[in-house]
Amino acid sequence: MLVETDHEVRTGEGSVYRAERSEADIATREGYEANKKRTEAPVKKRVFSGVQPTGNLHIGNYLGAIRNWAAAQAAYDNIFCIVDLHAITVPMDPKELHLSIRQLAALYLACGLDTRYCKLFVQSHVRQHAEMSWIMNCFTPMGWLSRMTQFKSKGGEDVDSVGTGLFCYPVLMACDILLYQTDLVPVGDDQRQHVELTRDLARRFNSLYGQRVFTIPEPQIREVGARIMSLDDPTNKMSKSDPNDNSRINVLDDANIIKKKIARATTDSLRLVTFDAERPGITNLLTIYQLLTGQTEQEIEAEFAGRGYGDFKAALTERLVATLAPIQERYSALMNDLPTLEAMLKQGADQVRPMAEATLQHVKDVIGLG
Ligand code: AMP
Ligand code: TRP
Repeated sequence: MLVETDHEVRTGEGSVYRAERSEADIATREGYEANKKRTEAPVKKRVFSGVQPTGNLHIGNYLGAIRNWAAAQAAYDNIFCIVDLHAITVPMDPKELHLSIRQLAALYLACGLDTRYCKLFVQSHVRQHAEMSWIMNCFTPMGWLSRMTQFKSKGGEDVDSVGTGLFCYPVLMACDILLYQTDLVPVGDDQRQHVELTRDLARRFNSLYGQRVFTIPEPQIREVGARIMSLDDPTNKMSKSDPNDNSRINVLDDANIIKKKIARATTDSLRLVTFDAERPGITNLLTIYQLLTGQTEQEIEAEFAGRGYGDFKAALTERLVATLAPIQERYSALMNDLPTLEAMLKQGADQVRPMAEATLQHVKDVIGLG
């Protein structure tokens, strides 16, 4: 039986949805408790995030996401996913997809994710994501999805010919997060709106059934590095799907390619190595340098005072190569032993499946399915 709640579908940006019941009011928490095994305190907060196995992982992904996950991993109970079901929302060559899944797994590990702290798995290996996604589609107003800016930009003008999956993509992402009773979702700034949607869906569902079926997740977005911009057009974010490879530094680019790409990266004619919002090209390169060196803006500006872009670009290239070379070495070793990598992914899926199943079962029970 549905519990009477005063819910309304939101009409503009942000949620206008009001849950009548307070969090404390919401009674049954077994699914939640079982999932988290909240018996022995203190419990680490659960982190969930994912990356699509498409194209080339670039330093935006690394500095804006994966590196931060690796740095904080010991403090959390982490689940990181290779979201292959998201990848097929746009046409993918089967062989390329198969390889990209393994490459991304190897990159996760090469970038420092450690299976002692993280469960790593492939989304399609855990069927519960797809099943939950159908259910949640039925609880998602079309209006909420049509406001998603990523759909608007990826879908393009010709809405009639775009796959429905691209439209429903944020619902699948919400399910990824909600299946594991996630507390924190570390992502780049471009995913903020999707995490907000996840929160809205979770609150609405909990309230509709008068139970705390889902934990309400928080986005975790860093101030610096949340949005690394394209090297050739610093008004756009660096993206895997940009057809121009010179627009990004890929994690697997060698020293020569990095040197060439940084040399031709867009700057300006002022030739002043300073952080300046009016000059997004140099500011983006400086932000990358700041993230690689850990220096403050002032320290960097002092280091390059009176020096030109050539000097700065040489220093940036050197830092990039020094950061990426060891990652590339580890990556090659992992890719040279695919059976071990695949066994690790299978183990990850086996670890998370029971958690996903517990939430899915709770959802089906409250809805009255089965
Ligand atoms: P995607 O490449 O869309 O699969 O994104 C994987 C992760 O990297 C997500 O957390 C994104 O928010 C993050 N990310 C993607 N592009 C950038 C960028 N240019 N700057 C910072 N973070 C990014
Ligand atoms: N949509 C995210 C991106 O493009 C990837 C993603 C899928 C994700 N499911 C997720 C990120 C769950 C965080 C949590 O970057």
